[in-house]
Amino acid sequence: MESITFAENLIRFLKEVVKKLGYWDSMTTVLAIETSCDETAVAIVRHRQVLSHVVASQIAAHRPYGGVVPEVASRQHLVSINEGIAQALETAQVKWNDIDGVAATCAPGLVGALLVGLTAGKTLAMVHNKPFVGIHHLEGHIYAIYLTEPELHPPFLCLLVSGGHTSLIGVKGCGDYCILGQTRDDAAGEAFDKVARLMDLGYPGGPMIDHLAQMGNSQAFHLPEGQVSLPQGGFHPYDSSFSGLKTAMSRLVDRIKQTGYPLPVADLAASFQMTVAKALTKRTIACALDHGFSTIVVGGGVAANHGLRQWMQGATHEEGLRLLFPSLQFCTDNAAMIGCAAVDHLQQGHRSPLTLGALSRMELTRVMDLYCN
Ligand code: KG4
Ligand code: ZN
Repeated sequence: MESITFAENLIRFLKEVVKKLGYWDSMTTVLAIETSCDETAVAIVRHRQVLSHVVASQIAAHRPYGGVVPEVASRQHLVSINEGIAQALETAQVKWNDIDGVAATCAPGLVGALLVGLTAGKTLAMVHNKPFVGIHHLEGHIYAIYLTEPELHPPFLCLLVSGGHTSLIGVKGCGDYCILGQTRDDAAGEAFDKVARLMDLGYPGGPMIDHLAQMGNSQAFHLPEGQVSLPQGGFHPYDSSFSGLKTAMSRLVDRIKQTGYPLPVADLAASFQMTVAKALTKRTIACALDHGFSTIVVGGGVAANHGLRQWMQGATHEEGLRLLFPSLQFCTDNAAMIGCAAVDHLQQGHRSPLTLGALSRMELTRVMDLYCN
């Protein structure tokens, strides 16, 4: 009995020592789940290192409908989640003893889809007696950069461009964000998807346009950039609007179709992509310079876009700003970025209650509402 107490005390003492040396933080290991939309993703992340990451894509299931069908997404998550968890654990070669916490995306997203990952995450946390943290999906997209740039520290400006969001975010620290610019209508990814649909390119549209644009002439068509007027005159320097551009594309496509000539899809894609890339770049640079950010990070699915990467690289180089993109696999939805955010929250002592629910909408500035302390 005495020897057990001695052993326990020794372990506790050793843990305190390694914690003081910072070793414990660098070893924090999380199992993370992401099911906010159409990817069932599970990852094991140790600090900022990805031990495994599994993504079960639902593209084939949604393709016949030309977009994501929420009910189909929830069902697909149910089909794939257990296999994803088993595969992530197997690939990472970790046991539950090695895992310090469980995380799942809880907002924003499709509620039925979120509920699958969130319920799985909370159940695993309860069964294995681990702390649980709910993660805001957009915070995950911001954290994707740390997987390739583990030494990066805030402050920096993040241009977050995904299927549901287009925001300029001032990143001050874990859970500490301010929104400096956003879209007034469609998100950038949504605009890519809608324009792809009107050119009959299928789903998902963004990667299709990106692919075609590389073979097209971006000067072939002049398209409106879309500006947000201010009541006092002039235009908002950081907010974007893509509905005018989308309408212009729709009219242009209709006009060409009426002529009976085949659609010059590559030129249309290249012209559209360049217009979006230029508009986003202009706003991001203005915001960085005005607010004194010397580092710009781009995140979200549209961060994978070649045109945007090119425009941003040119403009940041001219202004002497540092530009960082996550690796392509971590731009679109994945669970490694969720795990990376979760590690920071766990290290700061943040915990979510097991009563935490899924929310279709939630401002990024309210992420700290997800934690009890
Ligand atoms: O971040 P994400 O995977 O999911 C959301 O949180 O929305 O982003 C998906 C969006 C879709 O609209 C998709 O068409 C777009 O990102 N996307 C792209 C590219 N890859 C994905 N858009 C432009 N170029 C790409 N290469
Ligand atoms: Zn996303």
